[in-house]
Amino acid sequence: MRNADLKKPEPGMDVRYCFTPPDETPEAVLDQISDLVASNGGVGTSWIKENLQKAFLIGYAICEDRVVGTSTHKYPKEQYRKKIETETGLDFSGYLERGYTAVDPEFRDMGIGGKVIQGLIERSEGQKIYVTIDMENLWPLRMTHRVGMVLAARFINDRTGHGLGVFTNVTPCRNVLKVNLEQYH
Ligand SMILES: CC(C)(COP(=O)(O)OP(=O)(O)OC[C@H]1O[C@@H](n2cnc3c(N)ncnc32)[C@H](O)[C@@H]1OP(=O)(O)O)[C@@H](O)C(=O)NCCC(=O)NCCS
Repeated sequence: MRNADLKKPEPGMDVRYCFTPPDETPEAVLDQISDLVASNGGVGTSWIKENLQKAFLIGYAICEDRVVGTSTHKYPKEQYRKKIETETGLDFSGYLERGYTAVDPEFRDMGIGGKVIQGLIERSEGQKIYVTIDMENLWPLRMTHRVGMVLAARFINDRTGHGLGVFTNVTPCRNVLKVNLEQYH
């Protein structure tokens, strides 16, 4: 059964929340998460499953044996982290990156996305987390605000020309080394 065949949500339908590291996440679930993200996540679709397999923690909501919502705390790719640090002058070393967040369109605006990202935060105790969000994408902005993550910096996405917000659960430090080096150029 594909996501397109999902039943519409009805009152009383049970939604179950799971949070597992990649090696404890069933292969079939990883496939469903990859499909959901590829069709709704607004992110590049290559390597989703491979990246999930290297993640810190994967969150997902299940309804009637189908994944209807998901988000992941990943180890950011160094090249991408450095790009954000260059753009913002902040230090994101040691941070996890929230990504691959998507809820099936039939199941949106029911609090599912919020519960998945809140559950990930609760199970990532002591971890610093950031997420980048298109400042024109109101749904994830509201959902992220609700779990207490705050805007640390913003910059322009080269690809879309839109403003991107970097939201964090702790206040990031200035990248002092970079700032000092810039004084000599
Ligand atoms: C972002 C997404 C995961 C949210 O999932 P969700 O389960 O609908 O999220 P929630 O129901 O927990 O919260 C959604 C919030 O957006 C609000 N919202 C709903 N429709 C909205 C709209 N048209 N405009 C603005 N906000 C809206 C809801 O009211 C809720 O805010 P609240 O808690 O303050 O009331 C989902 O919209 C999605 O999959 N979007 C496409 C992929 C995407 O944008 N991913 C995030 C990339 S950073």
